[in-house]
Amino acid sequence: MLQFGSPDNFVRNSIEDMCPADVMERAADPGGSEIEHTAEDMIAAIRLLKREKNAVILAHYYQTPDIQDLADFVGDSLALAQAADRSNADIILFAGVHFMAETAKILNPQRKVLVPDLKAGCSLADSAPPAKFRKFIESHPLHVVVSYINCSAEVKAMSDIICTSSNAVCVVNSLPREHPIIFAPDKHLGAYVQRITGRELLLWDGVCEVHVDISIDKLKLLLGKYPGAKLIAHPECPQHILDEADHVGSTSSLLEFVQRDPANTFIVATEAGILHNMKQVVQHKKLIAAPAYADNACACSECPYMKLNTMEKVYRALLDETPEIFLDEAIREKAELALRRMMALG
Ligand code: 13P
Ligand code: SF4
Repeated sequence: MLQFGSPDNFVRNSIEDMCPADVMERAADPGGSEIEHTAEDMIAAIRLLKREKNAVILAHYYQTPDIQDLADFVGDSLALAQAADRSNADIILFAGVHFMAETAKILNPQRKVLVPDLKAGCSLADSAPPAKFRKFIESHPLHVVVSYINCSAEVKAMSDIICTSSNAVCVVNSLPREHPIIFAPDKHLGAYVQRITGRELLLWDGVCEVHVDISIDKLKLLLGKYPGAKLIAHPECPQHILDEADHVGSTSSLLEFVQRDPANTFIVATEAGILHNMKQVVQHKKLIAAPAYADNACACSECPYMKLNTMEKVYRALLDETPEIFLDEAIREKAELALRRMMALG
């Protein structure tokens, strides 16, 4: 299983290793109606298409396990942006949400960037409509604009520098202390960065609907039930969750923490997709997804946008080379500048 931290290692298995001859045959037409097709056929078909088209599949940790297992690279937003930047594939299939695929396109204007489902958006990105955001920054002309990568290409283009949850503290610390700063669009990540850096930030009023739906009451009950457990949380969670946490960090940081910390039980306050990868890196430890307010089937937090992507849609997108991400070149250039400033910080 490919883990975070190795963006060069794009090809894991040769197609011949993975596919017996009969599967290869059926893989040539997995959409055909006469033969019964299996998940194995779908995987084989996607691998064939990838090879034929020199395509790479990048997937976020919040994707379903089957998509993560199929992907050439699985990572958090920062690692995925870096992987997209280093890719030499003709086609990048981005299994994540729209702003992530847009980021890949901003960095790779010459490559075709595909998404499994164009409707896979993000409540945070949607909380900052470009026209409203423009008015906001125009009314604060002296502020430096730091935008979290979870925003549209238009908002990136209006920003001075981008950050992810992995490097937000470092990005804000890199700015001269005398500059006032706007931080958008996530007010909880912004408030967290404010507490850590001691810098006053003017916060845009946006939230991630998934992280604000983690129930503090149910979480406290769980902590009572597992007294030795450590709570780890993504900084998009509200402060009342972060105050209880033993570790706060991006998805990659949470993965690293469960490996290095001696505790045997962790309650994980972020989107439940991360548990797939986490279970593989710490097989002997107990991992519990933090519960949501909603009494849903998984008793956990799931991003409905991330979960719009399916294996079938990945296959279709690679086959038909659509839906594709297109960007206005003037917007892309400005957004690239803000992204490259972040990437130059490492
Ligand atoms: P990461 O930057 O940790 O990958 O988080 C992305 C995201 O969408 C969190 O909800
Ligand atoms: Fe956006 Fe939240 Fe989904 Fe992440 S989990 S993609 S921030 S809606």
